[in-house]
Amino acid sequence: MSGADQTLSQLPDYASSHGSPGVATLSGGQPVDTVTTSLTAGPRGPLLMKDLIFLNTMANFDRERIPERVVHAKGAGAFGTFTVTTEEAKQYCKAKMFDTKGKKTPLVVRFSTVGGGSGSADTVRDVRGFAIKFYTEEGNWDMTGLNTPIFFIAEPMLFASMTHATKKNPVTNVRDPNSFWDFFSLRPESINQLTVLFSDAGIPDGYRYMDGFGSHTFKNVNSNNKVFYVKYHFLSNQGLRTLTADKAAQIAGADPDYSTRDLYNAIATGDYPSWDMYIQVMSADEAEKVKFDPFDITKEWSKQDYPLKEVGTFKLDKNPTNYFQDVESVAFAPSNMIPGIEPSPDRLLQGRLFSYQDTHRHRLGPNFEQLPVNRPAKFPVTNYERDGFQLFDNQGGAPNYFPNSFGGPVMDPKAAWDYNDKISGSCTIGRYDTTTDIYTQATARFTSMDDGQRDRLTSAMAKSLSGAQSFIRDRMYGVLAKVDQRYSDMVKTKVNAIIAAQP
Ligand code: HEM
Repeated sequence: MSGADQTLSQLPDYASSHGSPGVATLSGGQPVDTVTTSLTAGPRGPLLMKDLIFLNTMANFDRERIPERVVHAKGAGAFGTFTVTTEEAKQYCKAKMFDTKGKKTPLVVRFSTVGGGSGSADTVRDVRGFAIKFYTEEGNWDMTGLNTPIFFIAEPMLFASMTHATKKNPVTNVRDPNSFWDFFSLRPESINQLTVLFSDAGIPDGYRYMDGFGSHTFKNVNSNNKVFYVKYHFLSNQGLRTLTADKAAQIAGADPDYSTRDLYNAIATGDYPSWDMYIQVMSADEAEKVKFDPFDITKEWSKQDYPLKEVGTFKLDKNPTNYFQDVESVAFAPSNMIPGIEPSPDRLLQGRLFSYQDTHRHRLGPNFEQLPVNRPAKFPVTNYERDGFQLFDNQGGAPNYFPNSFGGPVMDPKAAWDYNDKISGSCTIGRYDTTTDIYTQATARFTSMDDGQRDRLTSAMAKSLSGAQSFIRDRMYGVLAKVDQRYSDMVKTKVNAIIAAQP
C-alpha cells in the first residue's frame, strides 16, 4: 500500500473541495423540509401515506442492489490512457488506435476475482480478471482478459458447469472440494491452469502486481486485409508480487478489500500503475501448418517461436468518481471489437461472444451501452435501434427505419470483417472434442519449478484436494501422474498426511 490510507480521506476531501449543493430534494427535484423524521399521526401514532419523503427514500433504497456479475462479482476499477509506443501493431492490425506512434486512447479497467460474491475477500487463491475497455475513435474495444495466459477449458459448453462446480454448493451454500475436484479430475485439460492456480502465482499481492493477458488468440487484419493471429500481453511495470497462502488468509480476515484499497491508494497518491502491451503474432499460413492448435486457450504459444513485440503502454491515473456508477455498471464484452480485430476460431472465444452482452441486458438493462461508463467515444451512436428501459438518448428525430430518404445513418463497406475464415480440417458440421495434447505444457511448467515451488504447489493443492471424496482424489492422482509422477506422489503423500492428522 502506498503511504496513508486514502480511502479514509474520501469524505473529508469531498467536504473541502465542494460547497454544499443546497437543499435536499425528492427524485423529482422538489425541495424537502426533512430527511430525518417521518410523518405520523401524533407522536406515538402510525405513519401516513402522504409522507412522500419517506416513501421516496424507502422506494429508492429498496431497489439499490442490482444482480451481481454471475462470475467476477468482486472487483475494482480505474481510468487511464493507452499510448502507442512502437510501429509494431499497425503492421498486423488496421485499428486506428494503433496507427500512429504516440497516439493516446482513454480506457477503463476492472480487475476482479472470479469465484467469490461481491462481498468476498480479495486475497483468495483464484484467477484474476483483467478487463480493459478502450474508448477508441472507432468504438469500444474490450479486452476482457485474465492474469493468466491460459484457461481451464477450451469448450464453452462446459463454462456453466465449471462455474457451478467451483462456486458454492447449492444445498450447503459453502464451497465444495467434491464438486471442484470432481469436475477438474474429469476434465484433465484443466491441469495446466490448475498448476498455475495452486502455484506461488495463484494469489497476486493486489492488482498492481500482476500481468494481464487476452489469453485467447485473436484474429487481426491489417490495412492490406492480410490476416494474422495475435495474442495480447500486458506486463506490469510494478513487477510481480504474490502472497503466501498464510499471509493471504490473514489479510482476508483483516482487510477483505485489500486489493481494492491498494489500487485506490496508489492512484490517489499519484503512484500510477502501468502495464506495457506486447503482442505475439502468427501468420495465417503458419496457423494452418503448425503442429499444435493455435486456437486452444488451455495452452500458451512459445515465446521463443513467437517473441513478444512491444506495442504500447497504459497507465491508470484516475480513481472512480463513484464505484457503482463507474465500476459496478461497467460492462465488458469480448464481442466489443473494432475494425482490424476479430474473433479467431478459438472456440471458447466464440462461446463468449454471446454470453456477455446477454448477461448485461439482464444485469444492467437493455440500454446498458448508454450508461456513461459504457458509452463509446462518439456518443450518441447512430443506428436504427430505439426505445427500451432506461434510455438516455433515442437519436431524436432521425429516421428509425432503413432504407429511408431522410438522412439516416448509412452502411460502411470498409467495416466488413474478413468473414472468410479458413476452416481447418474437415468442414463437416459436428460436435468436435477440443482436448488434444493436454499434458505437455503442464509437465514443462512442473519441471521448470524449483523444489520450494513444487513443495508449495503440492501443499496448496493437497490442502484443497484433501476435502474431496477418496475416489475423486484417486482420479486426480492419475491426472497428476500423467503430468509427472513426482507431482502425483507429492500431492498424495501430503493429502494422506492431512487426512491422518484430522480428528
Ligand atoms: C465476466 C462468461 C470465459 C474473463 C464474465 C461474465 C460472464 C462471463 C457471464 C459476467 C459479466 C458481467 O456480468 O458483466 C464467460 C463465458 C466464458 C468465459 C461464457 C467461456 C465460455 C472467460 C475467459 C476469460 C474471461 C476465457 C479471459 C480470458 C472475464 C472477465 C470478466 C468476466 C475479466 C469480468 C469482467 C468485468 O470486470 O466486468 N464472464 N466467461 N472469461 N469474464 Fe468471462
